[in-house]
Amino acid sequence: MSKILVTGGCGYIGSHTIVDLIMNGFEVISVDNFCNSSEEVLEGIETITGKKVKNYAIDLCWEDAIEQVFKENPDLEGIIHFAALKSVGESVQHPIEYFRNNLNSLLNILEGMARFNVPNLIFSSSCSVYGNANELPVTENTPLQEAESPYARTKQMGEQMIVDFAHRYPMCKSVLLRYFNPAGAHESALIGEAPSNPASNLVPVITETAVGKRKGMTVFGADYETRDGSCIRDYIHVMDLANAHTKALQYLLEEKNKENLEIFNLGIGEGVSVLEAIQAFMKVTGQKLNYQIGERRPGDVVAIYANNEKAEKLLGWIPHRDIDDIMNTAWNWEVKRTKQAE
Ligand code: NAD
Ligand code: WQD
Repeated sequence: MSKILVTGGCGYIGSHTIVDLIMNGFEVISVDNFCNSSEEVLEGIETITGKKVKNYAIDLCWEDAIEQVFKENPDLEGIIHFAALKSVGESVQHPIEYFRNNLNSLLNILEGMARFNVPNLIFSSSCSVYGNANELPVTENTPLQEAESPYARTKQMGEQMIVDFAHRYPMCKSVLLRYFNPAGAHESALIGEAPSNPASNLVPVITETAVGKRKGMTVFGADYETRDGSCIRDYIHVMDLANAHTKALQYLLEEKNKENLEIFNLGIGEGVSVLEAIQAFMKVTGQKLNYQIGERRPGDVVAIYANNEKAEKLLGWIPHRDIDDIMNTAWNWEVKRTKQAE
C-alpha cells in the first residue's frame, strides 16, 4: 500500500482527494494547519471511508516542523501539494502573505523531497496561470499570459520552481495539474466546500443565496460577447477532480510518464455560462434564486474552458459529472451544513 502525504488535506479539494485515494487503496497522511478549514473534515472522511487519517496540524512554512514529518514518515511514495491561500481578491490586498505562504510552503516540500528521497509530486496549479488566454479551448501548450493577480503569480512561480527542481533532481517526478473551476461536493454530503473565509466563487454564492444566508446575488455582467451575454467557465465536479489526482499518482508510480515533469488541464472541456449555471441550479433543486444582473467584475476573463484530451489520453481520466451533478451535490451539502449550524 503506497503511503502518500497530502498537504492541505482538510481543505476542499484535498479532503475529497483523500477519500478517492483511500477508496483506491492508498494510505494517506495529511498536513493542514486549518487556516482555511477545520478538524471536523477528518470525521467526514472517516465516516465515508472507514479510515482514520492522521493530520499534522502544522504550518508548512515552518521548516523544522515539516522536516519532522518527513523524518517520521521515511516511507512516503508521493506528495500531493494542495496547501495554499487561494482567494484572488485577498491576494491583491495581501500579496506578501500570498507569496510567503504559497512559495515558502512549496520550497519546504521540494527541499524535503530532495533530502528524504520522495520520488513523486503532484502540484495543484490553476487555469489562472493562462491569464487572458489567446485561444479556446486552452491546451497545455497555450502560452501563459501575464498573471492577473498575485495569487495567479504564485501558481506561475510555483510551476517554475518545480521545473527547475525537476532538472536538478531527475529522480523526482512531478505532475502539474491545472484545475479549471472546481465545484460540487461528495455525494454523501459529509464533506464539501467549508471555507473559514467568506465564499466568493459562483456555486457557493448560488447555494448560500438559495438557503437564505445571502439576500440575493449578482450576475457580474450579461453584456459580454457570449451566447447569453454572461461569462463562460469550465466547472469541474470536485469528485472527478479528486480522481484525477489518484490517476496522476498511479501514472507516476507505474512509471508511465515520458518526462519527469508533465502538465495536465483538468476541466470537463465545455464552457457553461453564469446564466446557464443558475438555470441548472433552479432546475435540479426546484429552488428559486434571487439574482440580478449587475456590473461586470473587474479582472474577469470573458470565457475560458479546457481542452482535456491529454488527461484523457495519458491518465485515462474521464470526468463523469456535469453542471447538474455539481448543483445537486453542492445544494445537498449546503442544506446539510446549514441545518447542522442551527
Ligand atoms: P482550501 O483553502 O479549501 O484548501 C487548502 C488547505 O490548505 C486549507 O485547508 C488550509 O488550511 C491549508 N493550508 C494553507 N496554507 C497552509 C500552510 N502554510 N500550512 C498548512 N496548511 C495550509 O483550497 P482548495 O480549494 O482545496 O484548493 C486546493 C489547491 O488547489 C490550492 O493550491 C488552490 O490554489 C488550488 N486551486 C483551487 C481552485 C479552486 O477554485 N478551489 C482552483 C484552482 C486551483
Ligand atoms: C465564475 C463566474 C464570475 C460570483 C476563480 C479564480 C481561479 C480559480 C477558480 C483558483 C465568473 C461569475 C461569480 C458571483 C457571478 N481559482 N460570478 N456572481 O473567477 O472563474 O475563477 O476560481 O485557482 O483562479 O480566479 O471563479 O467562481 O469567482 O466566477 O456572476 O457572485 O461566475 O463573474 O464569470 P473564476 P468564480
